[in-house]
Amino acid sequence: MTTMDAALRCPVCRGGLTRTVAGPAASLRCARGHTFDVARQGYVHLAPGGTRHEGDPAELIALRADFLSAGHYDFLSEALAGAAGPFLRDPGALVVEAGAGTAHHLARVLEGAPEAVGLALDVSKPALKRAARVHPRAAAALVDTWGPWPLADACAAVVLDAFAPRNPAEFRRVLAPDGALIVVTPLPEHLTELVRALGLLDVAADKAERVEGRLGTHFERVGRTEMRRVLSLSPADAAALARMGPSGFHRSAEAVRAALGAEGSTVAVTAAVALEVWRPVSPRT
Ligand SMILES: C[S@@+](CC[C@H](N)C(=O)[O-])C[C@H]1O[C@@H](n2cnc3c(N)ncnc32)[C@H](O)[C@@H]1O
Ligand SMILES: [Zn+2]
Repeated sequence: MTTMDAALRCPVCRGGLTRTVAGPAASLRCARGHTFDVARQGYVHLAPGGTRHEGDPAELIALRADFLSAGHYDFLSEALAGAAGPFLRDPGALVVEAGAGTAHHLARVLEGAPEAVGLALDVSKPALKRAARVHPRAAAALVDTWGPWPLADACAAVVLDAFAPRNPAEFRRVLAPDGALIVVTPLPEHLTELVRALGLLDVAADKAERVEGRLGTHFERVGRTEMRRVLSLSPADAAALARMGPSGFHRSAEAVRAALGAEGSTVAVTAAVALEVWRPVSPRT
């Protein structure tokens, strides 16, 4: 049994799961006979009742994959790897990324942590197809992270959440007491040029306080780094970035170039994010 399978739990009865491989097909099964298929593309479907929504569609996932592999957010992947590394030194240490998308950041974290294994959670099938093969030590599962997670208590050394929905109670339950939650959120000036020129949804100015308020019951913050980079993007990449945002904005690369008044071949867009490290606190008695 892999470390990963040992961490997974049946989403119906919470029992442990055993992997069965029959030719090209694989599935995970608990002692009571609840069975969960491993999709042909390698991710396991652990949301038996379905999910409330389907997550990001294929087109958006493809845009994000291209954008990330162009290296524009490498500074963030590096920072995540640096923050997570110290918690991932034990053999088999598990890092779980919630709302992982293509799991680009998870792959970079695993590169920097040779003993660790990774698990990407998302509801988007197109995202999971990519996440399942992002790294030899990564697996992927279809899980609605708003609900209960099909994972054992205290199984994870690190939980990552970058621009994804947060479930503080489940973060706390699955994290080992000496583990770390690493959260990335946008700062108010994130993508400010795109927001202004294209009328995108603004990052709520009180976002940081809201994040803190919700996590503060289960965690204490032990670190915070603010990162700001001016990205030099092609109009196509800028358009992709605009469309990846929460407003689901649709405009062509040409329209983006025109709206930004970009004369040359590139447009300047500010990426501004906060990376925070939180440690679990003992439940209050
Ligand atoms: C903005 S993307 C961030 C992806 C990745 N963390 C990154 O930084 O590249 C948010 C991701 O959360 C996923 N998502 C949204 N709601 C979810 C839910 N309830 N459960 C699991 N994943 C969810 C989406 O499908 C999408 O892949
Ligand atoms: Zn079961």
